[in-house]
Amino acid sequence: MDDLRQKFIDLIAGATDEATLEQVRLSAIGKKGEVALKMRELGRMTPEERQTVGPALNALKDEIASAIAARKAGLEDAALDARLKGEWLDVTLPGRRRGALPGTIHPISQVWEEVTAIFADMGFAVAEGPQIETDWYNFDALNIPDHHPARGEMDTFYMHRTEDDDRPPHVLRTHTSPVQIRSMQQQGAPIRIICPGRVYRADYDQTHTPMFHQVEGLVLDKGTSMANLKWVLEEFFSAYFGTTVKTRFRASHFPFTEPSAEVDIQCSWEGGTVKVGEGDGWLEVLGSGMVHPHVLRAGGVNPDDWQGFAFGMGIDRIAMLKYGIPDLRAFFESDLRWLRHYGFSPLAVPTLHGGV
Ligand code: PHE
Repeated sequence: MDDLRQKFIDLIAGATDEATLEQVRLSAIGKKGEVALKMRELGRMTPEERQTVGPALNALKDEIASAIAARKAGLEDAALDARLKGEWLDVTLPGRRRGALPGTIHPISQVWEEVTAIFADMGFAVAEGPQIETDWYNFDALNIPDHHPARGEMDTFYMHRTEDDDRPPHVLRTHTSPVQIRSMQQQGAPIRIICPGRVYRADYDQTHTPMFHQVEGLVLDKGTSMANLKWVLEEFFSAYFGTTVKTRFRASHFPFTEPSAEVDIQCSWEGGTVKVGEGDGWLEVLGSGMVHPHVLRAGGVNPDDWQGFAFGMGIDRIAMLKYGIPDLRAFFESDLRWLRHYGFSPLAVPTLHGGV
């Protein structure tokens, strides 16, 4: 019995995995194991022999069972140790950079916010209107009647209508000026608003895209004049470009303003690059004038009581000038390299105190 005991203790100690250990258990204390065979021999023994051999066999069985259990626990611990060593992870390491870089704010969005911040500081509220307009808001109300040459010059996109459709004709707005009318109808006078937004014209080359951005300005009060217009614009351009910018007003014509002026800003052209606020060159950036009485009336405002100015400026244009972007079309191509180069950090929110 001692030999048997030693044999199994050695086998148990030598088992290095649970499957082998199970084999050892079956051959030792399984139903057909060697201890069971010895138990069967008890029947051929004398009662005296049986009294010593029986308990000894039972003790052997228990001893082997607990040796197996201990070995099994040892193997499990070793396996866990090995896993902990192999799958070790330093949670204090800095995080790995993700594959994609974070997105950037598009220069147009950035300039839109810059423009808004500057005018907000001068007491302007922001108004918006629909991009699909009736031709009444886009043209008639702005003193551009049917067959007026200005309609043809605008390269308007018309919404297709079937013959039995009797709703008023719609266009993609060709400028932000219809928001003047909508704002007057909604809030009357006095008024001091800007309307940034998308506009559409069928045109495409290095300086024209079929969709682009404008910001409209409208100020109505009792004695608002061209002098106020000039001050507001010079104040705006100087804040926007971060340097004193002279403006030049050239007499012009728009159906919705009288008198009308196109406004140029001072710039230099040295070395093939445009620099705003220096030199003796000029660059056209907006149209403006005193709001025409017909336009005031269309907006429900009495021209005998109120007067004021309006202007319309290209957002894309002034974005190109400030940030040295040569081609307008690139704005809308979604080229990731371009977006990363010209885009802004999402945290660089334009503010006046930070300097736009
Ligand atoms: N709507 C004009 C344009 O798109 C600009 C403008 C606006 C001119 C307001 C005068 C007054 O060209």
